[in-house]
Amino acid sequence: MSTTAPTLSTKLAQNGALERKKVTTATFRQKKERAEPITMLTAYDYPTALALDQAGIDSILVGDSLAMVVLGYPSTLSVTMEDMLHHCKAVARGARVPLLIGDMPFMSYQASVEEAVRNAGRFLQEAGMEAVKLEGGRERLEAVRAIVAAGIPVMGHLGLTPQSINALGSFRPQARTARAAQRLLEDALMLEEAGCFGLVIESVPARLAELVSKRLSIPTIGIGAGAGCDGQVLVTHDLLGLFDRFTPKFVKKYADLRTPMQQAFEAYIAEVSGRQFPDAEHSVEMSDEEWAALLAGLDGAGAH
Ligand code: KIV
Repeated sequence: MSTTAPTLSTKLAQNGALERKKVTTATFRQKKERAEPITMLTAYDYPTALALDQAGIDSILVGDSLAMVVLGYPSTLSVTMEDMLHHCKAVARGARVPLLIGDMPFMSYQASVEEAVRNAGRFLQEAGMEAVKLEGGRERLEAVRAIVAAGIPVMGHLGLTPQSINALGSFRPQARTARAAQRLLEDALMLEEAGCFGLVIESVPARLAELVSKRLSIPTIGIGAGAGCDGQVLVTHDLLGLFDRFTPKFVKKYADLRTPMQQAFEAYIAEVSGRQFPDAEHSVEMSDEEWAALLAGLDGAGAH
């Protein structure tokens, strides 16, 4: 193994990312203008970030879904700033090209605008993120304006906002009445006006998301919001079949990694139990001469 730190270009080459240009918020805007779909997935660790970068993803969201799909909490409410920063740092070490967005956790931006700005800043200053996301509409405008004024790009999040699970009552789809849909559209326009560079729209009727996407000049990223958004995001653990508790209707599983993972663990347990692993191929040897010298030395010293 090399002991010298890899250069940035070595890392980029390893990532297969040399040919790809760094994705920024400007790229998001250009993609919307060109009607090119924006691709986004979540990641919480180094190997997933690396694989997403190599696959050519536009953006990685270190979502507060971390709480549920990695840390095993029942909702997103328990995840802390320290948890989020820890996982953002790992993702930033693995990904170079995608735009990296850190999700502001529950109570990191609601209590005061000052706290919101300070916590948003930590995602960039300490954890290698390039933008932050926060949930909510008109009630968050002051925080959004202040964070943007500090030079930090902000992505909004409307529709099903999981941090409000106790107010919403369940994870069911949102904005299905004309009144609620009108309110969501107004919130979206206000977030755009406040300076958001993009907007996640989660679990709302497809035609509403399409209408909102057409009315906004900033890109919308849909999850459970149909094909009319400017981009799409999914929780990676849902897409890979690694989250066991429930699968929302809008999730498409592109793989079932839980089964091969369990099979690999069972095979390991069986081989260790049956003394088949480790075998010679997976063991370290020393030369016969060194071994003989060791034994001779031990004999000479009277050891057993
Ligand atoms: O936390 C998350 O993963 C998210 C996405 C579902 C958009 O907010």
